[in-house]
Amino acid sequence: MRMWGGRFTGQTDPLIAEATRSIEIDQVLALDDLDGSIAHVRGLERAGLLTAAESRTLVQGLESLREEVRAGTLAWDPALEDVHLNLEAALTARLGPVAGKLHTGRSRNDQVALDLRLWLRRTVRELDASLVELERTLVDRAEREGEAILPGMTHVQPAQPVLLGHHLLAYVEMLERDRGRLADCWRRADRSPLGAGALAGAGFALDREATAADLGLAGVTANSLDAVSDRDFAVEFLAAAALGMTHLSRLAEELVWWSNPAFGWVTLADAHATGSSMMPNKKNPDPCELVRGRTARVAGHLAAMLGILKGLPLAYQRDLQEDKAPLFDAAGVWRSSLRVMAAVVGGLTFDVGRMREAALRGHVTATSVADALVERGLPFRAAHHVAGRLVADAEQRGCRLDDLETASYAAALGAEDDEDARRLAAEADDERSGLVAALREAATLEAAVRRPAVTGGTAPERVREAIASARRRLDEEATAG
Ligand code: ARG
Repeated sequence: MRMWGGRFTGQTDPLIAEATRSIEIDQVLALDDLDGSIAHVRGLERAGLLTAAESRTLVQGLESLREEVRAGTLAWDPALEDVHLNLEAALTARLGPVAGKLHTGRSRNDQVALDLRLWLRRTVRELDASLVELERTLVDRAEREGEAILPGMTHVQPAQPVLLGHHLLAYVEMLERDRGRLADCWRRADRSPLGAGALAGAGFALDREATAADLGLAGVTANSLDAVSDRDFAVEFLAAAALGMTHLSRLAEELVWWSNPAFGWVTLADAHATGSSMMPNKKNPDPCELVRGRTARVAGHLAAMLGILKGLPLAYQRDLQEDKAPLFDAAGVWRSSLRVMAAVVGGLTFDVGRMREAALRGHVTATSVADALVERGLPFRAAHHVAGRLVADAEQRGCRLDDLETASYAAALGAEDDEDARRLAAEADDERSGLVAALREAATLEAAVRRPAVTGGTAPERVREAIASARRRLDEEATAG
């Protein structure tokens, strides 16, 4: 007889059995389910619902199942619907009728809600470790090659020069926020729903707090209806995963462009690229492209989860079984993508010469020149015009701002209808004033990256501090275990 079969006559239509079972997917929860069952058995014993001997027998039986699950030798029977019924049946096969006491005061509804939270806890830990690993890789590269200068871009057009280290650390910031979101998601999920029963609460005086403490959870859920139907934590996790993947996708996208020979800023290790079946010349950044593509999948999982929840009346509805595929897939994709990106970034060869060449091409130091004019007393708007004229002049001559003749600087200043500009135009004509030399200096890449020395800016000093502080944080993390 099926576990819930008392009121039924006849067999379930095989079509319906197949359509409702979840064992292929929820077997991922087997170890969490066993942890939950062992804690539940102890709770039943505390409540006087099991003798010490029964409790010991059940715990031993569940522990032997744990060994089998770990060894991969437990056979999952699709006829038994889900992981919970499979494990209970395996326990019964082992222990006989005493196994029938395990499900006292429990429903699969509070059971699966607990399993998912336990799964979430270990998944959050694994993902956090993978996030840290990628952060380390980025910080390593920033330490080694971070002083290289590249043309920072907005609108994908050359904008201002930035240090490679600054660019890499931008991703470290994103990854740190991802870690924060994971920790936050777990903080709210850190409650035991066990004892909520099917929906109304267990019919026995179970000490829910003690069972929660046994499981290392911070407390218990406060409302049984909410406890069996709450999947907020799944939504929060999927939101964190979708955003975390989005960060990886942006990094992947940049590497796809940067590895195109037209950029030529990075080369992927041969071990991290693939070729073409037809074009012998090809070296493709497929791992990056797949991370980018899978990001859409994870974003879709978030939308699916929200869709599952929005029409559900209280309490448990079977729709909730559909939470697992998105959760498990999102976690798997995120984890593997983090590891792929750590490998790819670790294996990159940066061509800092090509980066510098590109930085020398787009007049990316024009803002630095304008800022230097402001320091000589010109209003910023006027300085912007003057620097703009210098850019147009340099474009026309096919040279850089710091190659322009003194006459060009004097002309650019002289064309500005501003009292300070006229004064500066006169100074420009006078070599001894040092004005043009100072502006040419401001037009170099080195001077331009030094200027944004504000907190969070790209000045080498700030970037060195940021790298050191990221390194310190990661090292402390390592010693804290
Ligand atoms: N497999 C189910 C799920 O994942 C377990 C809970 C089933 N509860 C029920 N009353 N059918 O949601």
